[in-house]
Amino acid sequence: MSTAAGIDYNERIPNNVELSGNKSLQRALEHWQPEYLKWWGEMGPEKSQTMDVYLRTAVSVDPKGWAHYDYVKMPDYRWGIFLAPAEPGRKVNFGAHKGEDAWQEVPGEYRSTLRRIIVTQGDTEPASVEQQRHLGLTCPSLYDLRNLFQVNVEEGRHLWAMVYLLHAYFGRDGREEAEALLERRSGDADNPRILTAFNEKTPDWLSFFMFTFITDRDGKYQLAALAESGFDPLSRTCRFMLTEEAHHLFVGESGIARIIQRTCDVMNQHKTDERAKLRGLGVIDLPTLQKYLNFHFSVTSDLYGSEISSNAASFYTQGLKGRFEETKLGDDHRLEAAEYELPDVVEDRLIARHVPALTALNERLRDDWIADVQKAIDRWNRIPEKSGVPFRFRLPHKGFHRRIGLFAPLHVSPEGKLISEAEWMRRHKDWLPSEEDRAFVHSLMGRVTEPGKFANWIAPPLSGINKQPVGFEYVRFA
Ligand SMILES: [Fe+2]
Ligand SMILES: [Fe+2]
Repeated sequence: MSTAAGIDYNERIPNNVELSGNKSLQRALEHWQPEYLKWWGEMGPEKSQTMDVYLRTAVSVDPKGWAHYDYVKMPDYRWGIFLAPAEPGRKVNFGAHKGEDAWQEVPGEYRSTLRRIIVTQGDTEPASVEQQRHLGLTCPSLYDLRNLFQVNVEEGRHLWAMVYLLHAYFGRDGREEAEALLERRSGDADNPRILTAFNEKTPDWLSFFMFTFITDRDGKYQLAALAESGFDPLSRTCRFMLTEEAHHLFVGESGIARIIQRTCDVMNQHKTDERAKLRGLGVIDLPTLQKYLNFHFSVTSDLYGSEISSNAASFYTQGLKGRFEETKLGDDHRLEAAEYELPDVVEDRLIARHVPALTALNERLRDDWIADVQKAIDRWNRIPEKSGVPFRFRLPHKGFHRRIGLFAPLHVSPEGKLISEAEWMRRHKDWLPSEEDRAFVHSLMGRVTEPGKFANWIAPPLSGINKQPVGFEYVRFA
């Protein structure tokens, strides 16, 4: 099957980069492919190898019709290499090289920096598959199980996307990095994944939905910044990854929305907001959801790095990583004189101060992400509002529970008040999931596999996948 937008499915590795025209690259990737499949077998979703899963596969890079849905056994999924179409005459759009033609090859002086950026992004993709590998055993429905697996196979494809760049543009070092991407393991003491948040466990479905809602959204912002890159193959790769990423965010946001809906329904039915009663009725009380939100929000905030960063400034000046929607912004795209507002601490007060915008690009991307998370929280809040439940979700202050940057040595309450160590020790259980909260959520995780049935703690979705009914048999067990 060869398609309009040029993806060749007759090849061992489906691609739209004319892989067959570059034999040594093709051989190198065909050599990596069995290693990848071995990794999937060991670290991919547990006990899933023989299931038939109703999955989408990219068959085109045309945004209007790029996906095909059918039953697939995941080890047979057609992972491939898909780049968004080249934009003729594309330029470097920011930094010191602004106005030059976009680079089709890696500029020698930026080689190691670019490789590091690509490896760091690439490492998150298999990491999340590893973090989520046990979840299939406690799925709340077939619909959700299918969504989990869709996210997993696409994170696998994102690894392919980054490995393609490493193989095609970074020679021997690139090939070694591609191997190392299959060797690190999430949470491993000796050879962990690169970023801390990707070494945390994803122990239950509430955590999974929070992760896809918040941490995949960090992925969206990182990919969007890399999609602006002057290195054109990276830009085109990231643009297509963003198309797939949208579904991951949907899985998270709608997953939590369905949990909120179910809890509100039970609250109204039984006319109670008492935690113990609601837990007894087998639903997750809203304050517990808020604590999970606080946890995932703060851990993911750290992924953007320190507020002030000379690395971020260099990536920008060098034309490697832009701002979110760089080309839509109406400034000089060099940021030589611009300023940006950062939080800071003076004595025991939080204040705002202005710094050169170039050094504050991590904070700026974090702020863009926070604004996006906030919009989704507003959508969630319509559910209790419509149900007549007074509870509203709130994002904690960005200094809350941070491990990286300005706030790392401090304790900040969700409302943004600096507090003492003693007060933190006394109160953090009100703000972050306690052992007891986690044990309760864990206790809800059963396994529901009858088509159209849903676990008690989550409402069914409003509609199915690819216009199929909600009760469709999304996964068939051999
Ligand atoms: Fe991804
Ligand atoms: Fe994702």
